[in-house]
Amino acid sequence: MERKQEIEERRLARLLPVRRWPTREEAEASLWFSPIRYGPVQARWRTWVPAMVPWRATEDGFVTEAVVEWYRRFAMGQPGVLVVEATGIRDIPSGPLLRIGHDRYIEGLRRIVEAVREASGGKTRLFIQLIDFLAIRRRPEKEKFFRRYLSVDGALRRRLAEVLGEARWEDAPEAEIREALVGADEATIERVLSARDLESYRFGYRERVTDVHLPHIRDLPKILPGLFADAAWRACEAGFDGVELHYAHAYTMASFLSALNDRDDGYGGRRENRIRLPLEVYQAVRERVGNEIAVGCRFLGDEVIAGGSTLDDAIYFGLRFAEAGFDFLSVSKGGKFEDAKQPKVGQAAYPYTGRSGHECMPTVGMDERGPFSRNVPLAAAIRAALREAGFTTPVIAAGGISTFDQAEEILASGQADAVAAARQTLCDPDWFLKIRLGRGSEIRRCFFTNYCEALDQAHKEVTCQRWDRLFFEGEGKVLMAKDGRRRLVAPPWQP
Ligand SMILES: Cc1cc2nc3c(=O)[nH]c(=O)nc-3n(C[C@H](O)[C@H](O)[C@H](O)COP(=O)(O)O)c2cc1C
Ligand code: SF4
Repeated sequence: MERKQEIEERRLARLLPVRRWPTREEAEASLWFSPIRYGPVQARWRTWVPAMVPWRATEDGFVTEAVVEWYRRFAMGQPGVLVVEATGIRDIPSGPLLRIGHDRYIEGLRRIVEAVREASGGKTRLFIQLIDFLAIRRRPEKEKFFRRYLSVDGALRRRLAEVLGEARWEDAPEAEIREALVGADEATIERVLSARDLESYRFGYRERVTDVHLPHIRDLPKILPGLFADAAWRACEAGFDGVELHYAHAYTMASFLSALNDRDDGYGGRRENRIRLPLEVYQAVRERVGNEIAVGCRFLGDEVIAGGSTLDDAIYFGLRFAEAGFDFLSVSKGGKFEDAKQPKVGQAAYPYTGRSGHECMPTVGMDERGPFSRNVPLAAAIRAALREAGFTTPVIAAGGISTFDQAEEILASGQADAVAAARQTLCDPDWFLKIRLGRGSEIRRCFFTNYCEALDQAHKEVTCQRWDRLFFEGEGKVLMAKDGRRRLVAPPWQP
């Protein structure tokens, strides 16, 4: 027990010190707790909870009681805006990821809307993040890959003949080639396979937006605007106040924006072309939902990968989004597949394991600077360019924010218009309310060591190490994780 306390104290010592939390009056007069408008939506405060996937939907993507309770719990802390997790816009199997790809999902999503409205007393504005992603497969077993998945063509035969120094491989029976590769060492495999096949062998097959030889990839610009527009309409029907188009991290739309996108059909190459589909998606969404709800996006201030888009690109994208009429721009960083760690056999690559991933969800362990306000300069640079060009589009910053002073300083210095906190809010969903009530000293602070992110990586129900084993007498029914050991929502706090 004592050891546990020592560990906690050590972890707390690594956080930004808080000299004192504001009084109720100071909080009330603060910038963070002042109102802001996102297009048609008025939010009471500039506090914001960004999307976090908690892995609580059914295998068919439906809202469960645990999903509703997860958002109800966040709403009890009354953030200005709460963004529902990345929600799939297609009607295809996607595991326990929430979906909005068909009208049958509307009813469940409406339950989240109602729960949030009730628990926040109507004070929290509820947005939903809309995502499209491409296929990714698990890392295969060696035998399976070479016997079943690898396609054997002339180029492969030639390389095998060259590497093994025997011309006969050029027209050897396919089965023999496959068996030769099953028995080959890694150095030989590396020389024989094409770069793409080698990646599929080592990491698992992953589709890219540049695979235009595949009809469904070539046609993405034809189908995505309609899919996003239909999803946004369903969000409207369910009663959400806004949609956040997911143009960030490792997913389809971010891949169109990426400098690695070299499609030659007018949707890749120069950044004017890379932004074409994201703008067409926005136009389709806007046409469908009009000004009923806020329409914004989350995009990357920097991809943090070799050859990827940088802040310079992001500023250009931000200006074009503002010009198009986006109601808000939420800035994130990294989170890409390109530098992800090799997964174990049987597991899929996870885009938050490489450097770009660490920049996306920075921890206290990563370097001297740590996570604190780490990604704010990206939002600040984008916002400065917008303001200089005369746009008033609100910019939202996130990344390692867990104190009132950080948020105030970001707003006072004009680095962002709203300040978001993901993990700190997961750790203590009541922290916004505690600050507003002048009870900041009661805040349970996030350690920024990413226990939650490890659960996300394993596609296990996401919880926080600081509360998932805390149980209180008389608190009533407690929803438990499938492992039976962890509670699924933070314990109650009595204001
Ligand atoms: C468990 C977990 C799930 C996340 N899921 C999403 C997501 O669905 N969409 C998204 O844009 N970001 C997602 N993120 C990233 C966060 O929104 C946020 O950008 C990141 O954690 C950095 O902010 P923080 O330091 O306040 O946590 C997730 C983060 C965590 C910890
Ligand atoms: S589990 Fe996540 S939210 Fe909880 S303290 Fe650790 S990093 Fe913060």
